[in-house]
Amino acid sequence: MKNTNRRGFLKGVATLSALGAVKCGSAMMPSEQAAYDKYNARVVPRPEGLLDGEPVLQVPAPDSMGLAFAVTALSNGFAEVADNPEMKNPIRFMADGLPLAGIDDRVILIRMTGLKPGTQYWYRAGAAKLEHPVGYWTKPSEIVWGGVHSFTTAGVNAPSHFGMMCDTHAQFEQMSRITKKYRALSVPLVVWNGDIPNSLTNTREDFVKHYLVPPHNEGYAADTPIVLNRGNHDFRGTAANRLGEVMMPRLPSERSMRDFALDRNFAFRMGEIALIGLDTGEDKPDHHPANGGFSHFTKFRIAQAAWLKDQFKRPEIANAPYVVAFVHIPLVEPWPGANPGTLLEDYAAWQKECADLWGPVLTENRVQLVLAGHLHRYMYQAPDATRSWAEIVGGGRGRNTFQTLVEGKVEGGELVMRVHNTDAGTIAGEHRFKPRT
Ligand SMILES: [Fe+2]
Ligand SMILES: [Fe+2]
Repeated sequence: MKNTNRRGFLKGVATLSALGAVKCGSAMMPSEQAAYDKYNARVVPRPEGLLDGEPVLQVPAPDSMGLAFAVTALSNGFAEVADNPEMKNPIRFMADGLPLAGIDDRVILIRMTGLKPGTQYWYRAGAAKLEHPVGYWTKPSEIVWGGVHSFTTAGVNAPSHFGMMCDTHAQFEQMSRITKKYRALSVPLVVWNGDIPNSLTNTREDFVKHYLVPPHNEGYAADTPIVLNRGNHDFRGTAANRLGEVMMPRLPSERSMRDFALDRNFAFRMGEIALIGLDTGEDKPDHHPANGGFSHFTKFRIAQAAWLKDQFKRPEIANAPYVVAFVHIPLVEPWPGANPGTLLEDYAAWQKECADLWGPVLTENRVQLVLAGHLHRYMYQAPDATRSWAEIVGGGRGRNTFQTLVEGKVEGGELVMRVHNTDAGTIAGEHRFKPRT
């Protein structure tokens, strides 16, 4: 990035003049010359502490990767990506935005595009502080770069390996045991399966704390992309529908116009495993007074049923040896008479509306497994005569229970699911699945 200088400007004027674009080839007015002198004289000092925390990789896809990080002053953000750890010949991306880059005083969002599927990349994130020495004329500092990190893109040739955590509820110290565990296991991607906050999210800064600078979890997603799947708590508070200002939605090119509102549903391959993300929404019906008459979760679930059917028309999903669907609220009744989410009393223990809409589609397509959360306790529900899929519910914060990292990996021709008790450092359960036939 070169600073604008008078000589360059004058040369530009001369070029334009030669092309007949300007009628007058005269020099600048004295006031404009003074502005240039002031602009050029100002050297923006290298900012200290501009990067707040480590970058957070997100919305992984076969050909793109999202990145968010926090800054402490008005900045433009950058990411450099290379196919080698020495960062030779990197490609540089700037904070998202057209025509203006997404400059911001707190959150930088960058989408790295044009990547190859199932490929390891190295990257670094940086920011340049912006000042306005003359009116609106903007001048950046040098770029302050963070350290080099790595990720692998999704795709049929990616590792057949993933993790799932859920119901962390802003208990950051407890959560750190999960994030340390998946890094120790070199899990290439983690689905964060809902209920990230514990109370209301009323400001963007609440999201910054939950996702970009969670205490005790420094660098939790710098080398492990996060796939966010919302839970009921993620819809609460006056900032709930501004989540995209901190955690990016999926690219519009990943869905059809009909499904344009479904900007967080996902269906992509990690090696032999197809991962499908479905959003169960709130744990109370739309007509519950808690929702104030402005929620449309039933409509949302119906829209996702049409989207889900179409995913199995895509060859890479239809032909996947293993298909795992993610939901926050379970699709299987966990105990007789459990609240199905349609009552005004109490709250859903399972989501019957979603089970009725999506369950048959999953069975028709011989899906082996649904991964859920919400109950804060590890449970396993075997397939039965009515459905092809088992359901594993992950553990979460609470009394008489433990937090889990649910790990899926293809080993010896089977999908092996290990439920790690991250509080005790033990394996609470293991479940194996044969390829689809
Ligand atoms: Fe929860
Ligand atoms: Fe929940």
